[in-house]
This record gives sequence, C-alpha cells and structure tokens, in this order.
Amino acid sequence: AMNNFWIPEEINLSQDVKDYPRLLSAERSAYDKILSFLVFLDSIQTANLPNIGAYITANEVNLCLSIQAFQECVHSQSYSYMLDTICSPVERNDILYQWKTDEHLLRRNTFIGDCYNEFQERKDAPTLLRVMMANYILEGIYFYSGFMFFYNLSRNGKMSGSAQEIRYINRDENTHLWLFRNIITELQKEQPGLFTAESVQALREMMREGVEQEIAWGHYVIGDDIPGLNRQMISDYIRYL
Ligand SMILES: [Fe+2]
Ligand SMILES: [Fe+2]
Repeated sequence: AMNNFWIPEEINLSQDVKDYPRLLSAERSAYDKILSFLVFLDSIQTANLPNIGAYITANEVNLCLSIQAFQECVHSQSYSYMLDTICSPVERNDILYQWKTDEHLLRRNTFIGDCYNEFQERKDAPTLLRVMMANYILEGIYFYSGFMFFYNLSRNGKMSGSAQEIRYINRDENTHLWLFRNIITELQKEQPGLFTAESVQALREMMREGVEQEIAWGHYVIGDDIPGLNRQMISDYIRYL
C-alpha cells in the first residue's frame, strides 16, 4: 500500500480541460453523475474506516486501515482537483450535490449510509461482520461501473487525465478489497461461530443486492447512449466481478 503513494496533482489535466466541453451530452451527464457517486463513496470511506479500526485489535491490520483511510482522502482530493481544474465553481457544486436532485443517487447513498449507520447504533460482532462485508462490496463492486466508464472514455481518446487519476485510485482500491477479504476470511477461522448458515445467507443477500444496485446504476448513468458501452456489457462486467 505504501508503494502506491501518489498525489493527484502529478497528473496533467490540460487535455481534459479541452475535452470536457466537447463531450457528447450523454457522456457529460454520465461523467458528472459518476463523479458525484465516487466522491460520496470515497468520502464515506474516510469517515467510516476509523469506526471499524476502533474494533480491530490486530495492530498490523489497524495500520493497514489507517493507510487505507489516508488513501481514501487522496481519492476525494483527486476528484476535487479534477472538478476544480475542469469545471467552473458553480458546475463543481452542482456535481458534488447531485444527490439533492437525483433520486437514484440519493437512494444509493442512503442505502450505503444506512449500512454504515447500523454499526454506529449497534456495536456487536454480527453487525461488525456486516459492515465489513459492506466494505468488501463497496471496494469490489460499487466503484466499477464508474471506473469502466472512465476507461472507455479514455480508450475513445477523451479525458485521458481523468482516466489516469482513476487508474491510480483503482490500484489502491484493489489493495482495500484484499484487506477486507483477508479480514473476513481470517475472522472465519478465529470466530467460526459468527458464520452461521443464516448469517452467511444474509451476507450473500448483501452481495446480491450490491450487484443488482450497481447494474441498475450503470444502466441508469451509462445506458446505451455512450459510444463503446451498452447495458449488456455493464451487466456482464459487474456479474463477472
Ligand atoms: Fe477510494
Ligand atoms: Fe477504498
């Protein structure tokens, strides 16, 4: 994780400044909505990870969680750098606060917020396991129709700087996914009693819900109007993940 150290400003966005106003209207609206969701995901990670860390007693895992929280700050900072460079302050605020006007976005943000709040309200072992599963799904599924959109834009010769920021973010998210995967599988050995048939079934349901939401979101923000992508590809890719 430490070898992944980077800062958003090391990526040059001057081509993106030229590309952004020339994006097709479907591309621009997808860019804005996806960024708005990603800002939310990384911000809530920064805020929530210390709550999890407080209940982890393995010091080496806590160190990793601190590095992860720091990286989530860098991710938020990179969105802020992208928006400050590419848009006017008014456009930037519109993008940041799209959840106020976009019901689909608000519904998703509320769902994730509620998962995390559950653990704020009930600090017991089964709820900790659920919040860790929520992290695993967030790191492994929720970011990915967004990432897919940025990579596709860049493959079409647009917004290459934004795609580079996303590549760096993606590399960090992979380590976060592995961290939570290992926390959960280690916990399975240490506390097998937590993994009853019922609770495993509930975790599976969470994953299924997460996958369905990500596909619905991808269909909503990307749909069939972006050159190089379509609904079927979104469904296939998210199910593959
Ligand atoms: Fe992140
Ligand atoms: Fe992350």
